[in-house]
Amino acid sequence: MIENDFLPSKYTSLKQTGTIRWKSPSNIALVKYWGKRDNQIPANPSLSFTLDACVTDTTVTYRKLKGETTPPTPDADGFRFDLLFGGESRHDFRPKIATFFKRIEKFLPFLREYHLRIETSNSFPHSSGIASSASGMSALALCLMSMEREFVSEMDDNFFKKKASFLARLGSGSACRSIEGPLVQWGSHSDIDGSSDFYGIPYPYKIHENFTNFQDTILLVDEGQKQVSSSVGHDLMHGHPFADQRFEHAYSHLSELRSVLAEGNLRQFIKITESEALTLHAMMMTSHPYFMLMKPNTLEIIDRIWEFRKASATNVCFTLDAGANVHVLYPEEETQTVYGFIKDELLQYCENGKHIRDRTGFGARKIKA
Ligand code: DP6
Repeated sequence: MIENDFLPSKYTSLKQTGTIRWKSPSNIALVKYWGKRDNQIPANPSLSFTLDACVTDTTVTYRKLKGETTPPTPDADGFRFDLLFGGESRHDFRPKIATFFKRIEKFLPFLREYHLRIETSNSFPHSSGIASSASGMSALALCLMSMEREFVSEMDDNFFKKKASFLARLGSGSACRSIEGPLVQWGSHSDIDGSSDFYGIPYPYKIHENFTNFQDTILLVDEGQKQVSSSVGHDLMHGHPFADQRFEHAYSHLSELRSVLAEGNLRQFIKITESEALTLHAMMMTSHPYFMLMKPNTLEIIDRIWEFRKASATNVCFTLDAGANVHVLYPEEETQTVYGFIKDELLQYCENGKHIRDRTGFGARKIKA
């Protein structure tokens, strides 16, 4: 599908008011998206596990403006919305939402005709260093798609999900991988049927049961604000001396993963996943300006994981986001052994022992508003 396929068909009726609620999960990339072109087009394809416990819960209450004698004042871009995060008004989040609305307006032209009250909250602490843009932007995109669905005579589920992912991408790239689960691929790749730069797709090939219920224990090493925002990080890939090699790397990792995922090859999965995480950080260490986002405790944890994996012959491994926290990944049947190890040896490196036990999930859910 191309961009124009997401332009709306005629609206049959624009409802006066309504309320919609979605819960959408975060995701953790195995093959990382790092670097993009204009319009949120990724520089390389990526693949992620959809998570289950880390979710954003968003309710949108809409009200049609036409006929109101004193409509609320629009913001600078002409959109009218209230934004509440955890019950409180958050002015600092407004610019990101307004930018999102500007980008998607062409695809949802009803936006300016409504006042939206957006109430949102996360199941994980905001200061945890866990990126909330994937779950937050996908939840909002889904609410807006549900609005559109109420305005047209019919829309099939497949189109609904694709367009939700397409819109979410325009809010935050990784958000397009949060609509479905347990494994989602985004970015055009000649070896992956149906892959697209415009939206994420459920991984279209065989997934061995080893990978359908993976565990992700997120160790909160550093709860502070992100040192480098992802937009700054993506920008650093322009003119990066190793960018082309990195992008190639991601393409070949995705090709390799096809048989790894089908056969349940945990050893090879570990190699690719850890290499992706370290390459992401290597890119940041070798950009201009350069950044070191791992903390001493991040390295301690990685070292302990490597030692334990060797000693226990388990399949525990790690991945990293653009920050110091560590995602400890392991198959479900190793939970008892690996979580025991995490408790005994790794939690000492987390801020106040803080961690989140998550696992792969099946994507966003509509909740009765
Ligand atoms: C390191 O999706 O947050 O988590 O498109 O600018 O919003 P924007 O970036 P974002 O970048 C995610 C980067 C990453 C890797 C990944 O999730 O693939």
